[in-house]
Amino acid sequence: MRLFVDTANVDEIREAASWGVVSGVTTNPSLMSKNAGRSFRDVITEIASIVDGPISAEVTSTDPEEMVREGTEIAAWHPNVVIKVPIIPNGLKAAKVLVGKGVRVNMTLCFSVNQALLAAAAGATFVSPFVGRLDDIGNKGMEVVADIVDVYERYGIPTQVIAASLRHPAHVVAAALAGSHIATIPYPVMMQMVKHPLTDNGLAAFMRDWEKFKQG
Ligand code: G3P
Repeated sequence: MRLFVDTANVDEIREAASWGVVSGVTTNPSLMSKNAGRSFRDVITEIASIVDGPISAEVTSTDPEEMVREGTEIAAWHPNVVIKVPIIPNGLKAAKVLVGKGVRVNMTLCFSVNQALLAAAAGATFVSPFVGRLDDIGNKGMEVVADIVDVYERYGIPTQVIAASLRHPAHVVAAALAGSHIATIPYPVMMQMVKHPLTDNGLAAFMRDWEKFKQG
């Protein structure tokens, strides 16, 4: 399972990318809105200069022609940009046209296997089921991820599943066990993934013992 970072904060992306483990970035309008005073293009091109992998940037119109216009413009900013389009009827229409123009699409706000089937039929490269938001309303978000992966595998569908709206490290493990191709991970969750008290204690003991050994 590849690890993407789910943020539009360039400092977070720079730090996570410096670990050498990040192979893509996902943003959305809410995450992007935290970059007050900067242009959308400026942030996306800076992200693309940090991470060499798919960078998802979302359209903000719900009109199909405008979505295509926006998506075409954003995709021209950098070859790694992937256009995020919501799974609504107009989003499917727009996705089909964008895919026809050679633009890679990540269909977002996916909450069901049916929506994932439609995203695949539209030719999406990625689909993003939102796990945490399903959990929030008492559904089992990760079961939707597992079911989408099963159905795609059964039919040889090449669309890749990005488990999104992950809120804690256990979600990342569950995404891996569900067979998700990618997990997109908020920066604080990535920090939680690396942290373990036994690692810290063990390292402190190694350092102490090494100091004693060096001093003879
Ligand atoms: O990738 C989608 C993600 O940003 C949504 O997360 O926590 O707002 O449901 P959340």
